[in-house]
Amino acid sequence: MAEPDRHRIVRLRRRRSSRAIRRMTRETTLSPANLIYPIFVTRCGTGPINSMPGVSRVDIHGAVEVASRAAELGLAGVLLFGIPRSKAPGGQMACKADAVVPAAVRAIKKAGSNIAVITDVCLCSYTDTGHCGMLAEDGRGVDNDRTLPWLARMAQVHADSGADIVAPSAMMDHQVRALRQGLDSQDHSEVSIMSYSVKYASAFYGPFRDAADGSPRFGDRRTHQMDCCNAREALREAQQDIDEGADFLMVKPALAYLDVVRRIRERMEGIPLAAYNVSGEYAMVKAAAEAGLINEQAVVMEILHSIRRAGADLVITYHALDAARWLHHQA
Ligand code: PBG
Repeated sequence: MAEPDRHRIVRLRRRRSSRAIRRMTRETTLSPANLIYPIFVTRCGTGPINSMPGVSRVDIHGAVEVASRAAELGLAGVLLFGIPRSKAPGGQMACKADAVVPAAVRAIKKAGSNIAVITDVCLCSYTDTGHCGMLAEDGRGVDNDRTLPWLARMAQVHADSGADIVAPSAMMDHQVRALRQGLDSQDHSEVSIMSYSVKYASAFYGPFRDAADGSPRFGDRRTHQMDCCNAREALREAQQDIDEGADFLMVKPALAYLDVVRRIRERMEGIPLAAYNVSGEYAMVKAAAEAGLINEQAVVMEILHSIRRAGADLVITYHALDAARWLHHQA
């Protein structure tokens, strides 16, 4: 008998030959416990969000219901965004104990759902300018250091209401330190910080800004959010947040920045990493699916696995409830 030919012995297709074998050789896993679902909560103007089919603004009662559904499905957490009734120059509404987000957190906690409650900490939905903080007097973007106390105060109010994790998304330098100091000074050393460490100035946020009514009335966010051409700089942002006491890091958006997710995962092994599969990424999938151009479920599962494969522990996604349902059916 002839020597078996090496090229014929190695058959990579063997590992794909049945569903059972494919399942036992999977390198990347995805479970509902990896997913976080964003909730837009408001006291006025509830209902569907045109730019994000399938997503609605809900009132406090609705937020409690969604959080309990998310908990039943086994999701890791919900991430709350508030849409206030009125806006003010300093975003004072964001820092009131009876503002919509702290009220929703209290209601979710009172209902006893077993799920992490995360709150977004940024002023852009609350300021009359739509900017993420106080504007600099010279007109050059947001004044970093005048904004920090507002963010710290907002986080304290969220912590007072029972939030498990606060998530600063304003991209102000030293926001993590400001939040940590503020929380610790109010006996909230147990509350974690999930920092939007690496947040790019991205056109993929368009639908969200509709949803949260947080578009800048003039100018843009390029003086504080990162430039899409840079990845090495992302490592400095991430390191700075670790040094200031962040408990989780985040990269945002996810899909156009999977290389950044991978780099941070490799360099910063010790810290949980989230990636935010943002509104524009969601809206593109929805639009293509509604036009009959793609299979939504298959595409979403492929996207979520790709974000996990790049190295994210957690994925924040508007598809979280659907994906969890699909995962349960598949199991
Ligand atoms: C607030 C914030 C934004 C998003 C999350 N937090 C908008 C922005 O920075 O302009 C975007 C989320 C999404 O697009 O899904 N600063």
